[in-house]
Amino acid sequence: MLTTKQKTLRKFWYATVRLDDLKDGPKPFRLMGEDIVIFLGADGEPAALADRCCHRTAKLSKGWIDDGKLVCGYHGWTYDSTGQLVRIPQFDPDTVLPKHKVENFHCQGRYGYAWVALDEPLQPLFDVPEDRDPAFRRIFQFYDQWDCAPLRLMENSFDNAHFSFVHKQTFGDIKAPKPKKYEIQETDYGFFATTVIDILNPPIAHQVTGSSDPTTERNMRNHWYMPFCRRLDMTYPSGIRHLIINSATPIEDGKIQLVQLLYRNDTEADCPTQKLIDWDAAIIAEDRDILEATNPDAILDVSRKIEQHMPSDRPGMIMRKRLLELLHSQDEEEVTGAYA
Ligand code: FES
Ligand SMILES: [Fe+2]
Repeated sequence: MLTTKQKTLRKFWYATVRLDDLKDGPKPFRLMGEDIVIFLGADGEPAALADRCCHRTAKLSKGWIDDGKLVCGYHGWTYDSTGQLVRIPQFDPDTVLPKHKVENFHCQGRYGYAWVALDEPLQPLFDVPEDRDPAFRRIFQFYDQWDCAPLRLMENSFDNAHFSFVHKQTFGDIKAPKPKKYEIQETDYGFFATTVIDILNPPIAHQVTGSSDPTTERNMRNHWYMPFCRRLDMTYPSGIRHLIINSATPIEDGKIQLVQLLYRNDTEADCPTQKLIDWDAAIIAEDRDILEATNPDAILDVSRKIEQHMPSDRPGMIMRKRLLELLHSQDEEEVTGAYA
């Protein structure tokens, strides 16, 4: 599935840039092959426009913010959050402005990021109640560009059979390759998958899991939000919850911005932030190494025997089935990809 060719995928929310990073000016971002500029408008909320001035086509992300308006760095033409041209500095004050407008996109600030949908969204952005729960702390874990397809990251997120192999240096047990069964409930936004798995618990992970036993359990409640976001809520027997939010934001075909947020119901004294970043960084580096070695095009053909490694309720197959249904239900004229 060549992501940028599927217009339907423009109708979903994706995490783009950190809100904190917008405080010092507009930032460029490439979303599904489109260059956009994101900035904080007069109301303090983020806004997203096409990154192209309608005067002499300079990138607006080269400009700056003046009183909540975006000023082009070439000749100073100025735009509001809707993309409307509101000032041409070379004009006399009483000269009527031409009705020029730069294309604008849906944009909202949530969970510390500016989320953008290029076309009218089909679903609201998923809620994370823990974000407003004082029992939880929020940690910005990762913000990296990966050379893989977003669907590759999503299918990996629900693939229990890779732990023993990809994660054999961290929490996976190579001697126990048979994966646990997932229970999957399909939902309007994707699906909800639950399972309990056994993991290795080396000393370096003891503060992360809240246990000093050599092995422990993860009770996993894993949501897939179509097409490329997920919420993995893990509870350890210690009572610690380790809740990961991912957006595999498609930059262009075969390239994603991997955004990962972590919520924990413990304190800095229980487990330092840097330890939580370092341990999950070791784990996600293992995923990255193998995912960047996959074919960047993602196969949508549900007849291929690609999930014979999973015992039942094959999440990757359901993902493909749901995405195909979605693309066809939106009158996508063509599902484009090497194997589609
Ligand atoms: S190109 Fe933007 S003001 Fe001239
Ligand atoms: Fe993994």
